[in-house]
Amino acid sequence: MADQPSQQQLQSSPSALVSGGRCLTDEVRHQFPTLHQHVHGQPLVYLDNAATTQKPEAVLQALDHYYRCDNANVHRGVHALSERATWAMESARDSIQQFINAANREEVIFVRGTTEAINLIAHGIAESILQPGDEILISAMEHHANIVPWQLVCQRTQSVLKVIPMLPSGELDLEAFPLLLSTRTRLLAVSHVSNALGTVNPVAKMIAIAHDHGIPVLVDGAQAVAHTPVDVQALDCDFYVFSGHKVYGPTGIGILYGKQVWLDRFPPYQGGGEMIRRVSFDHTEFNNLPYKFEAGTPAIAEAIGLGAALQWFSHFRQHTLWEHEATLLYQLHAQLKALPGVKIIGNAKEKTAVCSFTVAGIHPHDLGTLLDHSGIAVRAGHHCAMPVMDFFNVPATVRASVAIYNTTEDIARLINGLEQALEFWQ
Ligand code: ALA
Repeated sequence: MADQPSQQQLQSSPSALVSGGRCLTDEVRHQFPTLHQHVHGQPLVYLDNAATTQKPEAVLQALDHYYRCDNANVHRGVHALSERATWAMESARDSIQQFINAANREEVIFVRGTTEAINLIAHGIAESILQPGDEILISAMEHHANIVPWQLVCQRTQSVLKVIPMLPSGELDLEAFPLLLSTRTRLLAVSHVSNALGTVNPVAKMIAIAHDHGIPVLVDGAQAVAHTPVDVQALDCDFYVFSGHKVYGPTGIGILYGKQVWLDRFPPYQGGGEMIRRVSFDHTEFNNLPYKFEAGTPAIAEAIGLGAALQWFSHFRQHTLWEHEATLLYQLHAQLKALPGVKIIGNAKEKTAVCSFTVAGIHPHDLGTLLDHSGIAVRAGHHCAMPVMDFFNVPATVRASVAIYNTTEDIARLINGLEQALEFWQ
């Protein structure tokens, strides 16, 4: 866990988001309307943040303002509303560029989410690079979104999908990793943080090793952007992808960051308006980046909402936030381990935000339903990571995942809910 506080601090103090000696927890929670409700008669505890985060007022207001005041299509309009909408959407791109520290705004492409971003890259690689016998390297802990597009592409191009194995700790086998890089490897595609296990992969180190072999790297940052610093230039990744809704933004919008040299080389993903400069029946000249990959009317409100989310989040994206989440995760692990029959799935040294577990004799779905009846939202299932479930020989896990607004009390409520479930089941 990044910046983990001392054992004594962890065990003695309730975790709080602090800035300049001031506790921000109440202030932050106040900004999330959904948190302030009762579910099945109990105050809501929301611990399903790896699936999607709640949205702060700043995002709700940005969406509301766009639809109430500026609603118009972007880029081609000469009227005031269209100019305002275009300005708001392109300003959002600038905020996102700043947030991930991309060198150029042209390298920031709006997509529907992580899944579409990976499919776009898979299409680009397949069309411009892959030859029969080439290899794509992924890892054993990928989300289906970073497996299936590569399987489809490998089938189409007669390439080979290779997989970095995982250790029982839930960490990647970093001794096996370099041995899997060959002269035919055309891409390494790896998650920054595992959605099923919470493992933080040493992506900077992996990128450096891959680059030593001349291999580009795609980092799936879906579970990382809200929980760990992301600087694409410092990482030197070739592609970095994430979804807006997991970092306090709207659904239906995500980001593909790609180094310009790659994006220039890739053919367009979809044809249509926006992505062209000139069209005749004989020939089409494509638009410059980033528009070459943004066919059709974009998700304007959502892009503006994501810009607002990242601007809002930037205020908190400092030392104390990572410490706060690390403390909550530590408390969660420590208290879960003390419960009879609980097995934590994934015990990597570096984890963030996510804790998966099983309870002997109770199916994760039953546990999820019982917790819901106590007002506690967790996820139960395979988390779109069936190979991870197979590796640990479980059909599913319960997954609790924390975010900026969670508290030590939330963890206590979850533990209490589990104790009640255990009593009920005995
Ligand atoms: N990929 C999301 C998750 O891990 C939906 O829950």
